[in-house]
Amino acid sequence: MSVPFIDLGVHHKPQGFSDRIAYGFTKALRWCADTFFAERYGHRAVVLETVAAVPGMVGATINHLACLRRMCDDKGWIKTLMDEAENERMHLMTFIEISKPTLFERAVIIGVQWVFYLCFFALYLVSSKTAHRVVGYFEEEAVISYTHYLAEIDEGRSPNVPAPAIARQYWGLPDDATLRDVVLVVRADEAHHRDVNHGFASELAGLPVGRIAECPPHVTLEPNWKKAA
Ligand SMILES: [Fe+2]
Ligand SMILES: [Fe+2]
Repeated sequence: MSVPFIDLGVHHKPQGFSDRIAYGFTKALRWCADTFFAERYGHRAVVLETVAAVPGMVGATINHLACLRRMCDDKGWIKTLMDEAENERMHLMTFIEISKPTLFERAVIIGVQWVFYLCFFALYLVSSKTAHRVVGYFEEEAVISYTHYLAEIDEGRSPNVPAPAIARQYWGLPDDATLRDVVLVVRADEAHHRDVNHGFASELAGLPVGRIAECPPHVTLEPNWKKAA
């Protein structure tokens, strides 16, 4: 499977107060993550993917409710955001096969989920534009982190273990795929989320929507009753 080309250097230059808040908040969280995880990329991926899977579902919920109240079309936003949440959850399900979180990290995940869900929900209600910009900046950082993870694998500091079965099935990777192949498709997913969320924020701000990186192909998840039929 070929991974779609992604532009690693995409950065939305903060324009105006809300963008600066979003960027400052992202850089503060980046500092926390760098301090907490240092070079433990597998653990970093597991913990941060539990956070990354939240905004899409929050955005989908709030847009869904708004469309019901206003009786208007969602312009495809709800499905896009739900797909993002599912895709991030599959990142989590993949990296949990690579690194097992410590008991302390599991406690951090529970605490962070409470705080982040409530804060992000409130932010989305107050300013959906800022909320999408925050996610756009988070995803810029995710692309950088997965690029560091690739270097870690290429330089032999992280073993290039076989790709977990769940990842091979989801992205249709060959049987001999490795962790490196997985990190490449995950990074391409993050670049897609980055561009989609910057695009949504720009659309809400009345700015032109830039180029959107292609999402690597993956299977559609289906319930067991459907698979058995
Ligand atoms: Fe992710
Ligand atoms: Fe992401």
